Amino acid sequence: MNLVFLGPPGAGKGTQAKRLAQELKLKHISTGDILREAVKEGTPLGKKAKEYMDRGELVPDELIIALIEEVVPDSGGVILDGFPRTLEQAKALDAMFEKKGLSIDKVILFDAPDDAIVERLSGRRSCPSCGAVYHVKFNPPKENELCDTCGTKLVQREDDREEVVRKRLEVYRKQTAPLIEYYEAKGLLVRLDASKDIASVYRELESILN
Ligand code: AP5
Repeated sequence: MNLVFLGPPGAGKGTQAKRLAQELKLKHISTGDILREAVKEGTPLGKKAKEYMDRGELVPDELIIALIEEVVPDSGGVILDGFPRTLEQAKALDAMFEKKGLSIDKVILFDAPDDAIVERLSGRRSCPSCGAVYHVKFNPPKENELCDTCGTKLVQREDDREEVVRKRLEVYRKQTAPLIEYYEAKGLLVRLDASKDIASVYRELESILN
């Protein structure tokens, strides 16, 4: 099964993708996670991507498409989380999948209102070591500010500052929201109410996929 997770920043795509990928043994490909890792390691891609990410803008299509070409497997299922984000990326994905004989089964649109998004992003904490994601109120770690999995001190993402969040929402509406119509026209889009709590969203996701 090949799934695309689409939706505004902070809607909960990554949280649900990690769990679903484990349950269904799918490969979870998060372009945001790959880019953050590249920034941390100071690779050429990371150096180029950082300035866009810090401003809340999209990294240029050609860099992202080249990155995806490297990580999409020839067989086995995937969850694409945070890709595609522009029409150009969506068309490149169609061409890439066609070449590999793959197809998208469903595009899940995570729908959540702006006030929920701002609250989720301002309270998000991530583990810089293993990438686990928490929320100070909705999904707190067992021990204050420490990762449950590896014990590393949790950090706040640079781009979760309020002014950058506003920019990311604006970019989402202008550049990514047109994909809703694109995938609706292909009969692939399914809307998911992502405003509920984490467990309820996961249950709804399971029922969509069954
Ligand atoms: P990326 O990392 O993909 O950021 P995003 O799409 O903005 O998504 P987020 O990771 O912020 O949110 P999410 O929906 O995964 O929410 P999460 O599960 O963490 O991209 C970062 C940057 O990289 C972009 O701005 C861009 O520069 C670049 N980039 C990436 N992909 C690109 C592409 N394809 N093209 C060009 N540039 C690209 O949840 C958020 C918080 O809420 C967490 O604290 C979580 O615990 C909590 N939470 C989750 N679900 C719930 C719930 N149901 N109820 C309460 N709290 C919840």
